[in-house]
Amino acid sequence: MVSYSMNVYVLFIIPVFAEANLVSPYIKTKVIPELQTCTENTFNGVITHFENVSNIGCSERCSSHPICRRYMYDKESRLCTLFESGENCITHERVDNKLCYKQKSVCGATKCTRCPIGYYGEHCQHIIRDCKDGFDKELHPDRITLSYIQPVVNGPVVEAKCIFKLNGRLYIHFRKTDCLEVDFNKTFDEYANGFGNPVGNYFLGLEHIYNILQGPDRVLSIEFGLTTGLKAKGFAKKIQISSKDTGYKIYFDNFNPYSSGDSLTNLRGRPFSTFDRDNTSYICPERFGGGWWYKNDNVCSRGNINGKRVGNNFESTWHWQDDLGTNTSFSYIFMRIKVL
Ligand SMILES: *[C@@H]1O[C@H](CO)[C@@H](O)[C@H](O)[C@H]1NC(C)=O
Ligand SMILES: *[C@@H]1O[C@H](CO)[C@@H](O)[C@H](O)[C@H]1NC(C)=O
Ligand SMILES: *[C@@H]1O[C@H](CO)[C@@H](O)[C@H](O)[C@H]1NC(C)=O
Ligand SMILES: *[C@@H]1O[C@H](CO)[C@@H](O)[C@H](O)[C@H]1NC(C)=O
Repeated sequence: MVSYSMNVYVLFIIPVFAEANLVSPYIKTKVIPELQTCTENTFNGVITHFENVSNIGCSERCSSHPICRRYMYDKESRLCTLFESGENCITHERVDNKLCYKQKSVCGATKCTRCPIGYYGEHCQHIIRDCKDGFDKELHPDRITLSYIQPVVNGPVVEAKCIFKLNGRLYIHFRKTDCLEVDFNKTFDEYANGFGNPVGNYFLGLEHIYNILQGPDRVLSIEFGLTTGLKAKGFAKKIQISSKDTGYKIYFDNFNPYSSGDSLTNLRGRPFSTFDRDNTSYICPERFGGGWWYKNDNVCSRGNINGKRVGNNFESTWHWQDDLGTNTSFSYIFMRIKVL
């Protein structure tokens, strides 16, 4: 839980309220179920709770809190929960008795007093391209946050996990056993556009990753938490992927298997394969149960981070060969990109 002094902000809350009374600054969004362990251990963005308030009272509390961007209201218990960022509300309880609202930009006649995270400018008219951009704009404290990003000008706005420190870190892939399982055995289009829930397990989407990688050179890190508590990671420098037309082929300078083992180097130059667009002659995506840059041989890949957590066999179960040993079990796996 984070605590912030509100005193500093009290003076300019009044015009925010006046504005809020004219036009509701909230948009109704979704309530999404998630496991309690996921939201507690990773990120949930909760600021605080208020008991026994009305829905309007809850929106007023969000409007008057300097970092609130979203709130969840329980119609039965009248519990009000404020969140600092994000598109949808997550709960490990029932979803049908809850409502979620996200704040639009809160703007007066001449300027905005707060923008959704990722947007900036006097009228919230700009949006960061990725987490590196958010770092440059000094948008937020240095912990994990949910942010809107727009990888390509006038393109779609997507929600992602970001860290706005050390040049920015963007989570493009996230799987944790504490979170609700998301099936990664998806179609090519789903891998292109992204899937899952950015609060928990998700994949950002190859098209967004492609657009982000058009900027300065990036490093891709693949990081693993083992069920033993140990951690491992590896880095691929100057990571690039080709366009959708050419199958999102993966390129990088070298993979440094820092402590993870190298299951990536032999896939350099390979296009991305899914069960519905398989560039291998060995039905790799079907066997492995997820999309990847599989090699066109019977081994397919020495690593599988998109397989089942509990598969029918070794191949289809998530693993990463070499140094870690072939039967290591993971508590989490994620991939991030950062500027070199
Ligand atoms: C909840 O709020 C209502 C109206 O403000 C009040 O009448 C009631 O006593 C409150 N209940 C509790 C348990 O605080
Ligand atoms: C894989 O894609 C390449 C073009 O990128 C194509 O030439 C090749 O025939 C494809 N192979 C399979 C097995 O789909
Ligand atoms: C992945 O999905 C495809 C298409 O539904 C299916 O044929 C394949 O068996 C699945 N793979 C696994 C490992 O479940
Ligand atoms: C993993 O462990 C299982 C059960 O102990 C074993 O049958 C299997 O061969 C192992 N897989 C590899 C690739 O070592």
